[in-house]
Amino acid sequence: MVLVNNFGVNKNNNNKNNQSHEGMRLGKYELGRTLGEGNFGKVKFAKNIDSDQPFAIKIIDKNKIIDLNITNQIKREIAALKLLRHPNVVKLYEVLASKTKIYMVLEYVTGEELFDKIVSKGKLNEDKGRKLFQQLIDGVSYCHSKGVFHRDLKLENVLVDTKGNVEITDFGLSAMQQQFRADGLLHTTCGSPNYVAPEIIANRGYDGATSDVWSCGVILYVILTGYLPFDDRNLAVLYQKIFKGDVQIPKWLSAGAQNIIKRILDPNPETRITMAGIKEDPWFKQDYTPADPDDEEDDVYIDDDAFSIHELHEEEHRSPGSPTQINAFQLIGMSSFLDLSGFFEQEHVSERKIRFTSNLSAKDLIERIEDTVTEMGFRVQKKNGKLKVIQENKVQKSLGCLSVIVEVFEISPSLFVVELRKSCGDASVYRQLCKKLLNDLSVPPRQALVSSEVN
Ligand code: ADE
Repeated sequence: MVLVNNFGVNKNNNNKNNQSHEGMRLGKYELGRTLGEGNFGKVKFAKNIDSDQPFAIKIIDKNKIIDLNITNQIKREIAALKLLRHPNVVKLYEVLASKTKIYMVLEYVTGEELFDKIVSKGKLNEDKGRKLFQQLIDGVSYCHSKGVFHRDLKLENVLVDTKGNVEITDFGLSAMQQQFRADGLLHTTCGSPNYVAPEIIANRGYDGATSDVWSCGVILYVILTGYLPFDDRNLAVLYQKIFKGDVQIPKWLSAGAQNIIKRILDPNPETRITMAGIKEDPWFKQDYTPADPDDEEDDVYIDDDAFSIHELHEEEHRSPGSPTQINAFQLIGMSSFLDLSGFFEQEHVSERKIRFTSNLSAKDLIERIEDTVTEMGFRVQKKNGKLKVIQENKVQKSLGCLSVIVEVFEISPSLFVVELRKSCGDASVYRQLCKKLLNDLSVPPRQALVSSEVN
């Protein structure tokens, strides 16, 4: 199984933390066990002490939050999230805030994450998979129709209840239409690497709906095959695969399933199938009964003031105090922005192979590599888009020669990865060469080293 829960939730049902929080009061809620732990903090089981009804409370650390400005705009955004009512979307009932935390009171779903379901039971057959996918599309397209985009759709955010119905959670990262820039496109890069759409990687502005469609395609692929369509332990290579739409669709899937996956995982957002197109697709339409959002009963609890965030004066306060205006929407989930260069920064050099990122164009990179290595006394051969850098050891033939393959990968139109691979030769000379190229070409300089192979 190649599925790795890299950015999502760690199951944590029986640890010390749980014991220490169990019984803790939060306004009218009593906190229970941890349901999951994700990017922004924990999700805990909670019980309304008056009604005994179950909830899930997402606890977000305010430390991660940048801007606490109070605006009516943000209040409206929270209100819009609270007003989402669809059988396939986890409901947000209210938002509470203390000095250090934001608490999102959510509908409690009895069931499991789709991630766990696929990991434990493997891929689903097309009939079962289609049913989940139809519900996913129903929920996501409903939110789109209300101007809310998810932007972090992944298996971990799709819960499946005990009746086998989908409930999409974690709309914390979603953006509202009002946050669009003048060009009508969103400009933040959010999401989990394996599910992120190519136009987000390119960071040239994107349409929230189109990139959610992409992520739904990744989810469908995993449901039907049991593995991710785009995967690589090296992020640069992963992004390159996504950017090219470099996906193998198994021939054992039905022609209809292959076709819809292909239409969704189209790297060009302009030609990618839309939500409306998906709903017209013959494979999708089989046994399709669209959910009726009006069926959703407000059976549990409706916040009497949809525009407010209630402030808890103390962490474990009994009742919510007066409403305070907090830029909660912005705060929710900002921590998982994808800064591409930041990702590469963490990794280190290996003996034989290094990679670094550069914002220089491929043409400039090739020219500058040629100039630099020639200046250092190496010979360059160009072959199949690669550069072979050779240094013959004229003084002592027995030492052989240094031979290095240099390759440039386009991740996005403004981001390239340079890979240096030593095929033979002296390690110290190779290191000097790497250091020089890294200094001259990486942007920002020296920041972005990736290692992947040793010998
Ligand atoms: N895990 C994360 N969110 C949840 C929810 N709303 N209900 C149950 N488990 C969850």
